[in-house]
Amino acid sequence: MNPHDASVFPGIAGIPNEFRLGNRLEQRSWLCDGEIRQWDGPVQDVLSPICTMKPSGLARTSIGSYPLLTGNQSGEALDAALRSQDGGRGAWPTMPVEKRIGCLSDFAVRMAESRDEVVRRMMWEIGKSLSDSRKEFDRTVEYVRDTIEAVKDLDRASSRFVIEQGVIGQIRRAPLGVVLCMGPFNYPLNETFTTLIPALVMGNSVIFKPPKFGVLLHEPLLEAFRDSFPKGVVNTVYGDGRTVVGPLMESGRIDVLAFIGTSRVADILRRQHPRPHRLRCVLGLEAKNAAIVLPDADLDQAVKECALGALSFNGQRCTAIKMVFVHRSIVDGFLEKLSAAVTAMPTGMPWDEGVMITPLPEDGKVASMRELIDDAVKAGARVANPGGGEAVGTLMNPAVVYPVGPGMRLYSEEQFGPVVPVASFESTGEPLEWIAGSDYGQQVSIFGRDPRAVAALVDPLVNQVCRVNLNSQCQRGPDTFPFTGRKDSAEGTLSVSDALRVFTIRTLVAAKATDDNRQLLRRIVSERSSRFLSTDFIL
Ligand code: G3H
Repeated sequence: MNPHDASVFPGIAGIPNEFRLGNRLEQRSWLCDGEIRQWDGPVQDVLSPICTMKPSGLARTSIGSYPLLTGNQSGEALDAALRSQDGGRGAWPTMPVEKRIGCLSDFAVRMAESRDEVVRRMMWEIGKSLSDSRKEFDRTVEYVRDTIEAVKDLDRASSRFVIEQGVIGQIRRAPLGVVLCMGPFNYPLNETFTTLIPALVMGNSVIFKPPKFGVLLHEPLLEAFRDSFPKGVVNTVYGDGRTVVGPLMESGRIDVLAFIGTSRVADILRRQHPRPHRLRCVLGLEAKNAAIVLPDADLDQAVKECALGALSFNGQRCTAIKMVFVHRSIVDGFLEKLSAAVTAMPTGMPWDEGVMITPLPEDGKVASMRELIDDAVKAGARVANPGGGEAVGTLMNPAVVYPVGPGMRLYSEEQFGPVVPVASFESTGEPLEWIAGSDYGQQVSIFGRDPRAVAALVDPLVNQVCRVNLNSQCQRGPDTFPFTGRKDSAEGTLSVSDALRVFTIRTLVAAKATDDNRQLLRRIVSERSSRFLSTDFIL
């Protein structure tokens, strides 16, 4: 990409019809207490990462706006959520699991109908490629379906009594109450829904706030939420976090905070809760996953996985490889191949066939990436690929930076963008030391073929991170696998089945196994007078 060529941004006339937005997206609706309400107050302009040429030069395109709600509206959302719980008596938390599953299945059908519109908005709001946007949507629908199966399994396992030491008990998982869900901009749909859906189906009520970028793409789903769930069970808030989220946390009525974002914001939110011991937190935070390339690694495979792992969605994944350690004996060959692979990555608009590198949605992102590169270059590193770090507007050529070492910001900071820092090592003790000293502990990738060498790294690394990938990039999926991290990287574990546990607490009914109690329980079950005390088995 030529840094002086603004024509990489095609202008409206150059955009295929099916991907144009048509009218501006002026969202005024928000979902509260089973109603789609209309907002007539201030709004937030939405700037797309896709630029257009203005008289003043290339600038982000304004594509619409969304409501800037206030603490009053978030208070209304909270009241609605609390009413739907009704201190444990609400229709939703007491509803039989099969019926809740029915609501979620209805929602999944309606959601699938919105695919094209959600995908189009995702491309415009966050610059994610068409194929990745479709993948995110489909993966999310799949997650909803897998969740339904996991709920059935969980319910089946608890649809029986246990008798232990003369005590009869039935143990199930019960909802925690009101859950605040906040997802990140890089997976605005998937990472919001991987907390929202399990929280909902287990009987909680939810308030969700979409991320700063990726708000409008949720609008096509509001009616499906309204129609599929009882009133007050799903509510949305929009606007400035301090204004709308602060009062929610300060109310002390949020039972679970499901937040994917930075540890700085997570800490602020947690501290706002007046009784933090009452607050359960499910957090997905920063990461700086390393790749370790051993001397006997299959170089082509290591390069392919590192390039994809570091630069899918422009490196804006919490699971991205953000530091590459390569054995000194092979580092020259590795760098040459990595630079070639990065140079060959197609750059362009999200809807371009096969595109890999697309415009960046965050304000000032290109400048902040340049600062990281400059800081490393000043300290003795170089950009190893031609044109690396050059940009047109919001579109930046990825930069491979080598050698990155102590004292450079890129050595320890999470870049969350299209920069690939590479360091060489003589002994594996060096990357092991780096990982042990890192603030983060999500995943690592090891590239090598010698079983002993690989095993010697696996054993210490499983005690430092939560997933060790062999000869493949770091990633979250499959979504049935546990996804978590140590240190500043996460709190709580998410997977299709773990998430059901995270948003619930084990609760039981117990009775001494006397004849009278046996008779009492027998009658409750046979007369089907309780939803909790029940041996119904979902088939
Ligand atoms: O940003 C963090 C995502 O959970 C990563 O998911 O590894 O499937 O891209 P992914």
